[in-house]
Parts: sequence; structure tokens; C-alpha cells
Amino acid sequence: LNAARIAPSILSADFARLGEEISNVVKAGADWIHFDVMDNHYVPNLTIGPMVCQAIRPYTTAPIDVHLMVEPVDSLIPMFAKAGADIITFHPEASKHIDRSLALIRDHGCKAGLVFNPGTPLHYLDYVMDKIDVILLMSVNPGFGGQSFIPSTLQKIREARHRIDTYHATGGQEIFLEVDGGVKVDNIGEIYAAGADTFVAGSAIFGKPDYAKVIAEMRSEIAK
Ligand code: DX5
Ligand code: ZN
Repeated sequence: LNAARIAPSILSADFARLGEEISNVVKAGADWIHFDVMDNHYVPNLTIGPMVCQAIRPYTTAPIDVHLMVEPVDSLIPMFAKAGADIITFHPEASKHIDRSLALIRDHGCKAGLVFNPGTPLHYLDYVMDKIDVILLMSVNPGFGGQSFIPSTLQKIREARHRIDTYHATGGQEIFLEVDGGVKVDNIGEIYAAGADTFVAGSAIFGKPDYAKVIAEMRSEIAK
């Protein structure tokens, strides 16, 4: 496995002080900044778009990991790429042409990924593994921070890990296996053991006063 990455979700940050929150969480040891985009159509909530991505870009050199919970997908890809996104992921049910959307993300110089809701099967990966840099497994139904981890995700992580390892054995490119939703200090160890290598955490980090302490505790759980 790769060294683990911690990707704080700014959904639970103080939006009135977003630049400062991002600087602080990166100083505290964050590897990626997870940026949740919700459209009140694909998910029942409304958040932030490319203008906010552009506004926060100067606050860190850490990769910005844009999680699109929007439908349709394609028109936002060039906008987020121009706004400084490094990674763009989308839900396969939200794009009519998955292969084309993945290619569009890479054509704009970003890493590309698919996101799987708890009830979405992994077979969407079958013919596009070569166009993917990230597999993002939702361990809650998307739309809100602060929900509880759905336990069946652990088996799905094992299955996704198996797909990635099998693909790597044939010489495929690196693919990150990221998990999003309800990740905490007390469950990150078993999520890692199931095969995840990149961990989104919103409320677990921004809900505590000392971000560095939480991130260090998460890393020590992974190292156990
Ligand atoms: C949920 C978002 C998550 C969310 C995670 O739809 O995709 O990234 O911020 O929040 P926590 O870690 O609080 O479950
Ligand atoms: Zn997310």
C-alpha cells in the first residue's frame, strides 16, 4: 500500500474564514484539501463552486480534491480546472457519458476519479480503469457532513482494493482508493486495514479545536 493521505473536507470548516482554515489544516498535516460541490439536484444540499475554489487556491499548495455531487457534470470540469483543482471526481450516475467525462478531466490536466454511493455497484469501473486515478467510495449517502459510517463499506473497500491490485499486476497506473463519510480516529484503522489509502474527514477534524492532534491520532491508528 501507498503511504496514507488525510484529506480534510472543508464542508465542516468555518466558511467565514475559509482561507485561514485551509492554511491551518495544511499546517496541521493535511495532505489533500477535499472540496465538496453540491447542487441541490444530484444531492439535497447546496455548497460551493469554482469561484470559491479559485479564491482558496492561493492559501495552499496542497492538492485540491474536488468531489462533484452535481448533475450534469461536464460543464463544471473546465471551470474547476481553471480554478486550480488538481483532482476532480464525479458520480457515474450523474454523467450520461462516463468515459468522456473522465477523459475531459485528464484533458484539462487534472487527475480523474469516479465516486460510488453506498448502494452503487463497482461495475462502472469495468471498462475505464485506464482513465481513472482515484476511486472514491462513499461511506455515507452524500449531501451532508457529520453522518455515521455505513459498515457495509468495509467489504466494498476490500473489493475495490482487489480490483486495483489486479489492475496493477497487469502494469496499470497508480490509483488511489479514497473513503468519504463518517471517518474518525476510532474507525480509520479498520478502514485502512480493508484497503483504503486516502481518507476524507470533515467533522472529525474541523469539529475539534486541535486539527494537528486529530490528524496525528489518525496517522497513528493507521500505523498500528
Ligand atoms: C458528504 C461529503 C463528505 C463530508 C464528510 O456528502 O462528500 O466529504 O464532508 O463529512 P464527515 O467526515 O463529517 O462525514
Ligand atoms: Zn466528499
